[in-house]
Amino acid sequence: MPETGTVKAVKRVGVVGSGIMGSGVAEVAAKAGFEVVLRSRTQSSADAMLAGLERSLAKQVERGKVTDDERAAALERVTAVTDLGELTDCDLVLESIVEDLATKKHLFTELDRVCRDGAVLATNTSTLPVVEMAMETGRPDHVCGVHFFNPAPLMPLVEIVRAITTSDETVATARAFAEACGKTVVDVKDQAGFVVNALLFPYLNNAVKLLDAGVASRDDIDAAMKGGCNFPMGPLELIDLVGLDTSLAILDALYEEFRDPNYAPAPLLRRMVSAERYGRKSGQGFYDYRK
Ligand SMILES: NC(=O)c1ccc[n+]([C@@H]2O[C@H](COP(=O)([O-])OP(=O)(O)OC[C@H]3O[C@@H](n4cnc5c(N)ncnc54)[C@H](O)[C@@H]3O)[C@@H](O)[C@H]2O)c1
Repeated sequence: MPETGTVKAVKRVGVVGSGIMGSGVAEVAAKAGFEVVLRSRTQSSADAMLAGLERSLAKQVERGKVTDDERAAALERVTAVTDLGELTDCDLVLESIVEDLATKKHLFTELDRVCRDGAVLATNTSTLPVVEMAMETGRPDHVCGVHFFNPAPLMPLVEIVRAITTSDETVATARAFAEACGKTVVDVKDQAGFVVNALLFPYLNNAVKLLDAGVASRDDIDAAMKGGCNFPMGPLELIDLVGLDTSLAILDALYEEFRDPNYAPAPLLRRMVSAERYGRKSGQGFYDYRK
């Protein structure tokens, strides 16, 4: 469903949240030439994000993927802030905070208050209803989903999510932004999981259920899917990369929407999250990363 709206100029991009996805999207946008204002809640996470960006770009220089001048220019374009008010002049703001509807809805109320009229407000949610965030604002036509994948600098796809309130102009502007970031874009409607996660999460969830049922070991489940389906990662490695807390939130949202047993989170997944084993980001998930 190609849209026909006019594209609004986007120069300055706001990113809210400096976790896995916020940091990745900030890097992608800065490398693509956008001015980026990244908002973290604390100065220490803002500083950690900038340090991570410096390391990532330095590695890319070592590998000959970017020149030293490009590295320096990309860094120059990123400002890390803690005050949401600093997003006032952004043309497009993409939130990438925790996958929790109440938290995201509250953020959209705030973004609507601080962002200039006409700015596009976007969510990187994996599953949550975009329309509910849109309706928190006085500009539901200017709200859409811009769903990057993890790791954002490497994964080619972006899903552009059209809520029933989203205007053609907003979809066109979000699409132009994602394309300028060098991404392949698909248009999807605002339904839990969109395309990729609606198909991927029953698979990841069932891998955890197989592990819990003792059908095979962790390593054998991953080896089976790599060797049997030619997938680059096994499902348990992948769920560790996504984050177990985020995965549980995604499955809860999918189950809430469809009531399909394939989406009902595996009890072991919930227990792992209770034990704060979130995967790579916390150092321990199905695998141990603490060495
Ligand atoms: N991890 C993935 O593979 C992936 C892929 C695509 C999209 N997403 C989506 O991106 C978003 C962020 O996921 P992530 O993987 O970066 O998670 P993460 O856990 O790495 O980061 C979450 C961020 O949210 C912030 N946060 C937590 N509670 C908050 C609150 N109450 N108010 C404001 N900020 C708060 C945290 O400080 C952190 O910066 C989610 O909507 C998720 O569904 C994740």
